[in-house]
Amino acid sequence: MALINENYLKLPGSYLFAEIARRVSAFKEQNPAADVIRLGIGDVTQPLAPAVISALHTAVDEMAKAETFRGYGPEQGYDFLIKTIIENDYAPYGINLAEDEIFVSDGSKSDVGNIQEIFGTNNTVAITDPVYPVYLDTNVMAGRSGKLDADGKFSGIVYLPCTAENDFKPALPTTKVDLIYLCCPNNPTGTVLPKSELKKWVDYAKNNGAIILFDSAYEAYIREPEIPHSIYQIEGAKEVAIEFRSFSKLAGFTGTRCAYTVVPKTVMAFTKDGTAHPLNKLWNRRQTTKFNGAPYVIQRGAEAVYSPVGKEQVKTTVDYYMTNAKIIREGLLSIGLEVYGGVNAPYIWLKTPNGMDSWTFFDKLLNEANIVGTPGAGFGPAGEGYFRLTAFGNRENTVEAINRIKTKLSL
Ligand code: MLT
Repeated sequence: MALINENYLKLPGSYLFAEIARRVSAFKEQNPAADVIRLGIGDVTQPLAPAVISALHTAVDEMAKAETFRGYGPEQGYDFLIKTIIENDYAPYGINLAEDEIFVSDGSKSDVGNIQEIFGTNNTVAITDPVYPVYLDTNVMAGRSGKLDADGKFSGIVYLPCTAENDFKPALPTTKVDLIYLCCPNNPTGTVLPKSELKKWVDYAKNNGAIILFDSAYEAYIREPEIPHSIYQIEGAKEVAIEFRSFSKLAGFTGTRCAYTVVPKTVMAFTKDGTAHPLNKLWNRRQTTKFNGAPYVIQRGAEAVYSPVGKEQVKTTVDYYMTNAKIIREGLLSIGLEVYGGVNAPYIWLKTPNGMDSWTFFDKLLNEANIVGTPGAGFGPAGEGYFRLTAFGNRENTVEAINRIKTKLSL
C-alpha cells in the first residue's frame, strides 16, 4: 500500500493565488459582463525588453544549426550569464563572489521552495508574518511545521509579526531558531529593512549558528539610496546567508523563467556531531541531481538584461511600474486609507477600512469595483486586516482601479 506524505494534509486549503483565481473565475461566471481589473497576483504586464527579445531570437537561430546547437547545459548555469551577474549585481557593491557560488535556475519560487531540502527536518524555522506563502508551505510539506493551531499558526514554526505597530520590522526571536526567511523589499508588505536591521539578523545568525534565506526578488524596485541591494553588503553575511534573485520582476520574466541563487562557499551548516559542511556543496549536489539547467535560449535573454541598452529598457519598465505604485499609493491616501509600501517595492499594503477582515474586503472590492487584490490574511495571521495591491498592472487599468475605488466603493 503506497503511503502519502501526510504533511501535505496539514496544509489548509489551496495555494493562495490558486484560491484567488478560483474565486475570480466563479465571480466571472456569475457576472460575465464585469470588466475585472486584476491587481492580485504580482504578475507583470509589460512585454520583454527589445534587447531581450533580440537576444532570444539570436539564441533560437543558434539552436537551428548543428554547429551552434546546444543540448544539456551546465546545471549551475552558463558561465556567460554567471560572469555577467557577478560583474553587474555584486562587483559594484564591492561584493566578491566566485563563479561557482552562483546557481542559475528557472525561477526563485522553485529555489526558495527547494532550498529547505538541504536542511535537516529538525531545524526550527522562523518566518516573518505576513509572508510569501512558499516559505511556509514548503516547510510544512517537509515536516518542519508541527500542527496547525486554532490561531492559524503552526505549532513548530516561529512567527515574526510585521505590522504597522512595529513599522514592519521583525523583532529577533525570543527562542532559538535555525533557519530564517527574510524578504526585502518585502512581499507582501512592500516595506524594506535598512542596513542596521539586517545587521541585527546577520549577528543573530552568526551567534546562533543559524542561516538566513534572503529573498531579494524585488531588488530592482529599491529607490532610497540607504537601502541595501544585497544581504552581502552587511558584514559577515557571506558566512550565514543564501540570497535569491530573480529576473521575473526585474525584467518581466514571470513567464520566461530565470533566476539565480547565491550560496557562498563560506556558509556552513552542521551534522549532529558538530561537523561543519559548506551548503554550496549540498546545493550543487541537489541541483545537479534534480535540475538540468535553465534553457540556453532563456539564459541568453537574461544576459541581455545587463547590456547597456537592456539596462536602460528594463529600467524604463521598472520605473513604469513604480509610477503605478505612486498612483495607487497616493490615490488611496487621498481617500484617507492607511497605506504602506509602494516606495521601494511594487506592492501597496493597506489597512482594510473600518476594521473589515481581509477576505470580506476582497469580496467587497470585487463585487463593488470589480477589482481583484490579495487579502492580507492569505499571507499569514498578522496579515489579517490588511490587503495587498500590485503595481504590475498596465497604466490604464491602474488609473481606472483607483478611480473605481474612489467612486464605486462604499467605505
Ligand atoms: C506574488 O504575487 O506574491 C508573486 O507574484 C508570487 C510569485 O512571485 O510567485
